[in-house]
Amino acid sequence: CSSMASAAIVEHTFHVQNLTIGRLCNQQVITAVNGSLPGPTIRVHEGDTLIVHVFNKSPYNLTIHWHGIFQILSGWADGPSMVTQCPITPGGKYTYKFKIINQEGTLWWHAHVSWLRATVYGALIIRPRSGQAYPFPKPHKEVPILLGEWWNANVVDVENQALATGGGPNNSDAFTINGRPGDLYPCSQNRTYKLKVQQGKTYLLRIINAALNNQLFFKIANHNLTVVAVDAGYTTPKVTDVVVIAPGQTTDVLLKANQPVGSYYMAAHAYASAPLSFDNTTTTGIIEYEGSNTATPIMPVLPAFNDTPTAHRFYSNLTSLEGCPHWVPVPRHVDEHMFVTVGFSLEPCGTNATCQGQNGQRFSASMNNQSFQLPTSLSMLQAFFYNVNGVYTTDFPNKPPVTFDFTNSSFNNATSLLFAPKVTKVKKIKFNSTVEMVLQNTALITTENHPMHLHGFDFYVLAQGFGNYNKTRDSKKYNLVNPQRRNTIAVPVGGWAVIRFTANNPGVWFMHCHLDVHLPWGLATAFVVENGPTPSTRLPPPPADLPQC
Ligand code: C2O
Repeated sequence: CSSMASAAIVEHTFHVQNLTIGRLCNQQVITAVNGSLPGPTIRVHEGDTLIVHVFNKSPYNLTIHWHGIFQILSGWADGPSMVTQCPITPGGKYTYKFKIINQEGTLWWHAHVSWLRATVYGALIIRPRSGQAYPFPKPHKEVPILLGEWWNANVVDVENQALATGGGPNNSDAFTINGRPGDLYPCSQNRTYKLKVQQGKTYLLRIINAALNNQLFFKIANHNLTVVAVDAGYTTPKVTDVVVIAPGQTTDVLLKANQPVGSYYMAAHAYASAPLSFDNTTTTGIIEYEGSNTATPIMPVLPAFNDTPTAHRFYSNLTSLEGCPHWVPVPRHVDEHMFVTVGFSLEPCGTNATCQGQNGQRFSASMNNQSFQLPTSLSMLQAFFYNVNGVYTTDFPNKPPVTFDFTNSSFNNATSLLFAPKVTKVKKIKFNSTVEMVLQNTALITTENHPMHLHGFDFYVLAQGFGNYNKTRDSKKYNLVNPQRRNTIAVPVGGWAVIRFTANNPGVWFMHCHLDVHLPWGLATAFVVENGPTPSTRLPPPPADLPQC
């Protein structure tokens, strides 16, 4: 790689406030940034410093997370509420400031408290430094495609109602493309997202799944797509007719307008891996060729909702693009081996309530049978920095309390495991140690594909498969040459995935399922990465305006 052009400072101001917008024949109050849905697209170059002044004029506590950003020595700007900061209270403000180093591609930003990210989100696009090129032919145009999820209701109410009943939330009323439901929904036709293309030109679509609770299949009628990056890491170019994308993930594809002049739908609907109730509607946008006079666009045929083989084929066949830019070889030495179950559990309903979870209990979720609870008095990063005890404990286990046939549903009767304790347990690791984690989905309650997101680091996905992970058999399948690099891994339903990363950044880094309903249920933990030996490997003090609890 050649280098090094000068870096810039990019500054934005976010005014976060409630506004009323019309969707699906309904007027709805939402919380939004600078009056738009999705919020503003942030464009930076690798090496730049980003400064965002956030003014919370909404009635809710708020934080903003920069999903996928490494936050090297800037953990105070990461954003998850009660993990790296106390929330910005109504009327308050906080300035997020961080440098974007060694990563480029498509990321995004979103609220990281309650369910506000349903409407508080936007794209964060990192281009190569000036003078540097993409590892693929320069596209004619670049287009963010943000997939979202919409309720004809206040999303904070939807979440609170789900938590109160101990059951799942009401299904959403629509999916959206760039904030718009599209032609197939009522009162939506004249607001459908439209991309005008010129025949023969190539477009870079930066697809982001910002939906709360659904993985999505995405397709464009009659067009193949070439995947060139996922989660801001370049991939070996891969031609596909369908993309599957989990909440938290991004997928960059090249679209060549190589079909007859006409009009084609892009469409997305759920990939629902579990036999649960879900929003089964379809969102559409239109790709319109210049000179087209077609009235009705051609509709693609999306895979069936439960088409796990198609999802798995897409997810597991990606590899990273070796060499520049920002490619790092897979670490070969592992310091910490972890085996972590991910799945559902229960918590007692309590005496006065009727709960809608299994056996009349309240649904919860857990990792290694620990159901994570956020602290309430102080953020974990403040506790780390100031050495305050009692905010979290560092005894998150390296393996589950018992080993059983994880994907056999008859183990649903293992009641001692069903009721996972509510705890704030984290995994403490030494600076620069390499962690390998087997993520194993369990059949307690039901199996489901959980998109597990790690803050602060990208990890390599060494292998994935179905059933119980078997070390002797499965470690032979590890790709240690060019595995895909991600910040969010969709762990196969009733299966497992193995990830590996080097913890070279001190701080507290949240790890959780990116289905928003599973987060308050406790499908989370965190890594506390200790300071390194030199000043440049220690977390600096917090900025003066860090919100206090
Ligand atoms: Cu995109 Cu912790 O989240």
